[in-house]
This record gives sequence, structure tokens and C-alpha cells, in this order.
Amino acid sequence: MASEGLPFSKTGGLADVVEALPKALVAQGYEVAVVLPRYRGTKATAVVMPSLTIPMGGTRLRFAAIADGTVLNGVRYYFVDDPAYFDRDGVYSGSSGDYPDNAERYAEFCRAAIEIAKHVWPTDVFHCHDWQTGLLPVLLRTSYGDDPLVKDIPVVFTIHNMGYHGQFPKEVMERAGIPQGVFFPGGIEFFGYVNLLKGGLIYSDYLTTVSRKYAQEIQTPEFGYGLDGVARDRGDRLVGILNGVDYSAWDPEKDKLIAARYSAKNLDGKQVCKQALLELFGFSAENLGRPIIGIVSRFADQKGFDLIAEKAHELMREDLLLAVLGTGEKRYEDLFRALAAAYPGRVGVKIAYDNAMAHQIEAGADMFLMPSRYEPSGLNQMYSLKYGTVPIVRATGGLDDSVETFDLEHGTGTGFKFKEYSGEALLYAVRQAMHHYMDERIWKRIQLNGMSKDFSWKGPAAEYTKLYEAARAVRGGETAARGAAGAARSSGPASRGAGKAAGNQKPVATSNKAD
Ligand code: ADP
Ligand code: GLC
Repeated sequence: MASEGLPFSKTGGLADVVEALPKALVAQGYEVAVVLPRYRGTKATAVVMPSLTIPMGGTRLRFAAIADGTVLNGVRYYFVDDPAYFDRDGVYSGSSGDYPDNAERYAEFCRAAIEIAKHVWPTDVFHCHDWQTGLLPVLLRTSYGDDPLVKDIPVVFTIHNMGYHGQFPKEVMERAGIPQGVFFPGGIEFFGYVNLLKGGLIYSDYLTTVSRKYAQEIQTPEFGYGLDGVARDRGDRLVGILNGVDYSAWDPEKDKLIAARYSAKNLDGKQVCKQALLELFGFSAENLGRPIIGIVSRFADQKGFDLIAEKAHELMREDLLLAVLGTGEKRYEDLFRALAAAYPGRVGVKIAYDNAMAHQIEAGADMFLMPSRYEPSGLNQMYSLKYGTVPIVRATGGLDDSVETFDLEHGTGTGFKFKEYSGEALLYAVRQAMHHYMDERIWKRIQLNGMSKDFSWKGPAAEYTKLYEAARAVRGGETAARGAAGAARSSGPASRGAGKAAGNQKPVATSNKAD
């Protein structure tokens, strides 16, 4: 279960994962149902249950429907349909910020997912994603603790981002129908607040996060956002599995959204894509010989753009162009707008969410910059590798796990990395990349090294299946069977989005990911 998933809803990489992992599990013989909220515009094909009775706080009940979202790529989709909660402009937030009833919305979502497992899709394993699904394991082990149908279903919980806690004032307990007994420091309480991510971390059977490096990082105060102690306590049940890439969507050999197709065997099409990108950003065609650095991102603190702000003018002293696509926090939008105004014809900015343009930047740029402060996995650097677009990244989380520093002596490596979180270190990495770009032969080596890497979902999906089976084993279940007969079914709701500043703790990202 997840709060967003392609092709129905997306605010960030979670949606890519929630589409691709189930597909890859089906390819390995599992039966998978994905539970998502029915947001505005989500089309359903039928009603599975017209009215589920969902107890909220006190005497309040809500009556969500379960809608059938059909079967796509072998994956069954169910939507939790409660228009008052989900038929809104945004996913987690509207024009005046995070929706104030996010705790209730996702509490209902979690209860509905459990009910789906009871009445619609008998489930062997729940796979939950991010804070929006944190209540599922909490409820399963408390309110549903005596229910023979679901009480022993194991839960695997994936942390996509430790910076978003789903933290709310204590008063939401009542409105969301959260059992009072779990409000204590060893439960979902976090310094007087309700913390739904913490619920997921404590009550699930296994925890995963989306890279090996991030699994270590979240156990330290620098990356744990106050929950590093919990992560350490659960260290023996915490596994890092790097995200994969859905190459049916992200492969320059097949990509219909780009100006020309190309592959490692013949890179000619990439020049055509570069010309198209110059045009798209209003850059002169004379720039064809200069490197374009691409950025496609949510504009959030996590992404490290303050380093660009710090060294913008030194950066632009290099003979390069910058093509930026993103939306999010206003100060970063302003930063890039100001850069575009200061360097017309060399810096181009599109403040938008546009998937086709994201593909066009991946294909047309020479380098791709991700200076993240932290990055649980990151997908764009892996897309970049496939598109022969050399990543320049900070060595953190999944960026560190997926990009290998170019080594001139041995001709190995796929990109450029810097460790220290400083503008100076970023600049140094960009200059290294610029230096190697001058030598066509060397540059092609780096491109081809990246293009030959395989980050498909096959490996990660196999790791998840091992974990589902381990989770069943710790709950006393049998090993999940594969194949057509008695195939393991895994379903899960999940999501992302709330994060209120955590009292006197290190601040947690205050807003949900941009809608
Ligand atoms: P995060 O989930 O932290 O935002 P990821 O790298 O995992 O980071 O995933 C981001 C996903 O969202 C990628 O698929 C990326 O292409 C996409 N994306 C981000 N911003 C935009 C945008 N402005 N327009 C189109 N796609 C975007
Ligand atoms: C989060 C992380 C990102 C990761 C994505 C999918 O949003 O910020 O690094 O790739 O989830 O797991």
C-alpha cells in the first residue's frame, strides 16, 4: 500500500517505485495488489465494496468505498474512495499548505487496506511505504490484534525518506481513531507529538530503506531526523535495497518522449536530443559544443540547491549551460529564476512538473547534477546513467551506491562525486567533469561505462521477496509459495507527506513533498 503510485498519482520517486516494484514481483511469480487512495481524476472501473464502515474517533464513522482500478501489467489495483478526503486539488497539500486532516485521511486509508485484506484480497504480506502507511502495522498489532483473519499478517515497511515523519499534535489521536495505548515513547509518541513514521518503524516486522548507504546513514543523528535511535534499535531488522529503474519507461533506445532514439551502440541520436534541448530552453544552437548540465527535481532542502546558490557565480564562470526543471519551495524557484535572469542564454529554468520534459533533459543534457544533502535512493542519477548523461552527485545514500567515481588510470567509473557538503566541493566535482568533457574519447568512455550498468528491478525485487518470506517466517507463517498455485499475495497501502517541525529536535522537513 502506498499514498501515491504511477500511473495514477505522483509527487516524487515513491510513485515510480510503487509502479515498478509490483510489476517486477509479478514477473517473479507473485500475485500483487496495490492499494492507493482514489485522488481527483483517478479512474476506477468498478465498485468492489460500496461502503466500508471505518471507525474514526469517538462515535464517528466514515464510509469509504473500495473501487477497482483494474489490472495493469499483471498488478491488481484497489482504490480507497472517500471523496471528502481524497478528491482534492493536491495529494498532500493545497494552496495553503499541508491539509490539516492528513492524519485522518491516512488513518482511514490504513484501516481500509486492512479491510481489503479481510474481505477482498487475502494477503500473505503487507508492504507499506512511508509515514502515510505507518498506522497499518500499529492497528494490525493493536486494534486488530484479536482478528484471526489479519492479526498474523507480516508487515514490511519501506522508508523512502526519513525527513518526512507524518507528525501531528496529540489531539489527532481522537479524530483519527488511533488507540490511546500506543501513545508512549516506545510507541508512536515523539516528544509529545504523534509520529506516524515512528509507528511504522516500531510495529513492522522488517524495515527496508531504498539504498544500503541510507540504511546506515539513518542510524546516525545527522540523517535520522531524531529517529536514528529507533533505527538503531531495529538495526537487526533493517535492510537497504537500492531502487531499480523501470527501463520500459526510461531507456533512450525506446523512449517516445525524446527527439531521437539512441543507444550505447550508436550515440548519434543524443546530439539530436541535445539540439532539441537547446531549442526547448531558448539557448542558441551555437552552444552544441558546450556541456549542458541538467537538473530535474523537487525543490526541497534535501536536494542541496543551497550549494548552487553559494557558488552560482563561480559555477557560471565555467563554459557550461544549465537546464533546470523543478517545482517546490519558493526560495529555490527564486534562486533559479534569478540565475536565469543573470545569465540569459546560458541558464534556463522551467518551473513546472512535466514528465516529457524530464525525459528530454535526461536525453539532451551532457551532465546531470544532484548535490543532495541527503538522498535515500534517487532515481534521476540512474536514469542519467542509462541516457549517457554523466551524473555529478554528492556521495550520500543511493547516489553514493549507484554512481562510481571515474578513474582515469583504469578507465572505470560512471560519474563524479563529492563528499563534503560544501559549495567548494561541488565546484571541484563540476570542474573535474568539465575537464574530462574536453576529451571526447574519455568522455565517451564515461558515458558507455554508465550506459552498460544494469539497475533493473529484477535484483531488488528478488531481495524484497526474500524479505517477505523472512517476515512470514518471523510471524510463524509458512514460506510464501511462488508460482501460479498458492502464489504469495502481497498488498499494501502506503504514502508520504506530513512532517511538522519536531519540537526541539532537529527540524523535520516542514511541508509534504510538493504536489
Ligand atoms: P524524490 O522522490 O526525492 O523527489 P527521486 O529521484 O527518487 O526523488 O524521484 C524523483 C522523480 O520525480 C523522478 O522520476 C523525476 O524524474 C521526477 N520529477 C521530479 N521533479 C520533476 C518535475 N519537475 N517534472 C517532472 N518530473 C519530475
Ligand atoms: C524518496 C527519496 C528518493 C527516493 C524515492 C523513492 O522520495 O527522496 O531518494 O528515490 O523516495 O524511493
